[in-house]
Amino acid sequence: MDVLKPIAVNNWHNNPSNEISQEAIQALEHGKIVFLPQLNFTLSADENSLLSPALTNPKRKNICFNPHSGETRGAAASALQQVQLKILMQRYYQHTLGLVSTLFPSYQKHLIAGRTSLRTVEISGRSSSYKKDDSRVHVDSFAATPVNGLRILRVFSNINPHGVARIWQTGESFSTVAKRFLPEIPSISTVEQYLLRLFKVTKALRSPYDHFMLNIHNKMKKDRAYQQSVIKTTLALPPKSSWIVYSDQVSHAAISGQHVLEQTFYLPSTAMHYPETTPLFVLEEMLKHSLIIQDKQVVSAAVEM
Ligand code: SIN
Ligand code: FE
Repeated sequence: MDVLKPIAVNNWHNNPSNEISQEAIQALEHGKIVFLPQLNFTLSADENSLLSPALTNPKRKNICFNPHSGETRGAAASALQQVQLKILMQRYYQHTLGLVSTLFPSYQKHLIAGRTSLRTVEISGRSSSYKKDDSRVHVDSFAATPVNGLRILRVFSNINPHGVARIWQTGESFSTVAKRFLPEIPSISTVEQYLLRLFKVTKALRSPYDHFMLNIHNKMKKDRAYQQSVIKTTLALPPKSSWIVYSDQVSHAAISGQHVLEQTFYLPSTAMHYPETTPLFVLEEMLKHSLIIQDKQVVSAAVEM
C-alpha cells in the first residue's frame, strides 16, 4: 500500500474540485500522507538568512510561533530577526490555514490552530532523550498539552535551499501499534490526573485518551527491538514540496533533513468523515469505555498555548 497520496495542488488558496477533496480526505483519514509535490512555500531573499540553525536556542529542536498571541519562542535572534521570524511564521500559518480550509472544506469550521514551527537544525546526529527522539518511529502525543480526543493534523513544507530532501520513515497502522502496546499500559488514576495538573506538568487535565496516547508514544520510542524490527517505508520528501498528515495516527520518524516549516491544527474526532479510523475510536473499542473528559473547559484549556 502506498504511504503517500499525491495531490496536484500548486497554490495555497486553491479551490480544488469536490472529487480531489474527497480523495484527499479519504486518504488522509485512512492514515496516508497527503503529498503535495508542487506546493512550494517561498521565502524572500531576506528570510533566507533566518535559516541559520544558530538562530535556534541550542536546547530546542525548533523555533515556534503561537498564531493566537503572536509570540515566538526558542529563537536566539536579534530584535529585527525576531520580527522577521514572526512575519514568516504568521504567513506560513495563514497559507496552511488557506490550504487546509480549501482542500478539506468540511474541516474549516472545526479547525483549531496550534503552533507553527521552523525547524532549521539538521535531524541526523541531533542528540536528545529517547522521548524527544523523532528519528524513532512514533505517533505524536504531547506530554504537557493534553488534547482530550482532538486530532493532531500537521502540515509540513520542505524549504531547504540546497536541494536536500527530508527523509521520513513510516511504520505500522495505528490499530496494529495499539494492539501491540495498549495491553501493557495501566490506567491513569484521578489523583494522578490532578497532581500532574497541580504541579503544572500538564496544561490541562490529562485525559485517559492522552494518558494512553502518551504511553504508546513513549513505549514505541523506548523499545529498541521494536524500532529495529518494525517494517518501515522510507520516504524522501523533496524541497519545494508540502505534505499533510494525521501525526497522532501515522507512525512516523524523521531520519534526516534540515529546513522545514510545520503548522499544527487540532480538530475534534467528531469532525472526521471516517470516525472509525481515529485513534480515539480504536482505543475506545479496545478498552470498551470512554477515554475523554466530558467538560468543554478541559478541551479549550488543552489547546491554549
Ligand atoms: C516528527 O513529527 O516526529 C518530526 C517531523 C519532522 O520534523 O520532519
Ligand atoms: Fe512526530
